[in-house]
Amino acid sequence: MSRIPRDKSLDSTIALMGDPYRFISNRCRRYRSDLFETRLLLRKTICMTGPEAARLFYDQSRFARHGAMPKAIQKTLLGVGGVQGLDEGAHRHRKQMFMSLMTPEGIEKLVRLTSAEWQIRVRKWASMNAVVLYPELHALLTRAACAWAGVPLADSEVEPRTRQVTALFDHAGSIGLRHLWSRRARKRADSWAADIVEQIRSGRLRAPEHSAAHVVAWHRDFSGALLTPQVAAVELINVIRPTVAVSVYMIFVAHALHTHPQVREKLQAGDEDYAECFVQEVRRYYPFFPAVAAQTRLAFEWNGYQFPAGRRILLDLYGTNQDPRTWERPEDFEPERFGRRDGSPFNFIPQGGGDHYFDHRCPGEWIAIELMKLTADFLTRRMSYEVPGQDLRIEWSRLPALPRSRFVLSNVRECQ
Ligand code: HEM
Repeated sequence: MSRIPRDKSLDSTIALMGDPYRFISNRCRRYRSDLFETRLLLRKTICMTGPEAARLFYDQSRFARHGAMPKAIQKTLLGVGGVQGLDEGAHRHRKQMFMSLMTPEGIEKLVRLTSAEWQIRVRKWASMNAVVLYPELHALLTRAACAWAGVPLADSEVEPRTRQVTALFDHAGSIGLRHLWSRRARKRADSWAADIVEQIRSGRLRAPEHSAAHVVAWHRDFSGALLTPQVAAVELINVIRPTVAVSVYMIFVAHALHTHPQVREKLQAGDEDYAECFVQEVRRYYPFFPAVAAQTRLAFEWNGYQFPAGRRILLDLYGTNQDPRTWERPEDFEPERFGRRDGSPFNFIPQGGGDHYFDHRCPGEWIAIELMKLTADFLTRRMSYEVPGQDLRIEWSRLPALPRSRFVLSNVRECQ
């Protein structure tokens, strides 16, 4: 039996915060191992990377999600009582609710709504000297996501709701005031969504039958009861928040187009297969969600290592997408590699791995992919722009990581 390598420091929380995307893979390389143990927030945690570790992590007979996420993340990014913390039958039942929203027609509708918002924005940007794309995308996506989800949003509400929803993912991983703002935003966003659920249930608001607001409001839990308004609110926000968070990937689409001009030419030709490979490579190459957490249900042995019961586990998502055992020259941006991929659900995991229905894998993967393709289409075929001098280096210590300048455009024109 081998001993799981132990990190030397007493607690690694500060080191993780300083380099959240490379913390696990750098140490695994140092220890020549796919796993090591450390303390995070004073709790013993086993960190793992790579496709074999991912396959293990998604084995539900060994790992559970309940209680695995730190409270700070529940009180901001995720909310309390949502699908992320459920296990077994209760999880599968709730997950089905999300999957029922991900029909081709449903996703097409969201793409149409987002496209209409892009078009309106492009006209506005054409009258501006410079456009900071990241915050512009937040408002654009908040409008589209709410319209899609059946959540009414008056013009006067767009700005405050956009700020709240954005704070849930853009400030959750920070410390200090930005984190506190994220907690406050969580309370406000949850109470807004709970009010919508109650209005639908009382008949004061009619949401379209297949919309997220309708589906969540009338969803019956495993026990047959309607969700409490608080939990329903968390689940409704679980649809709106990550849709707005696709803005991060959209910024990386713009970044990739700028730094790899040869890609732009291929996309301009309108090759749909290539567009798919391009957005997949953006999801592989750029950092977004660093890791996911679970907890061992029982003690077991794996590859000669002893895992104790009740241990928190972190699976490295970003590092697994960069693992040289799967990806040749992972540091190169090469969309063509997706033309010859093996399709394993454990070696390309930007939004989690395993099965969408049975595991915790993100149900919004198709939404992210389609909205990224739409972005590539706008940026290569439906508008022209310049990229003025700016600092496009990626801020690796930030969660989510972003180009420092947030991507500035100038001289925007709509293509006829
Ligand atoms: C779960 C990433 C977009 C809804 C997850 C997980 C990750 C992730 C890493 C956890 C996987 C795991 O625990 O094993 C992302 C990224 C996105 C994105 C990077 C791009 C912006 C979306 C969208 C939606 C969505 C558009 C819905 C409209 C969810 C939900 C879960 C989830 C409800 C919980 C699933 C479960 O616990 O079973 N996402 N996601 N996400 N995502 Fe996404």
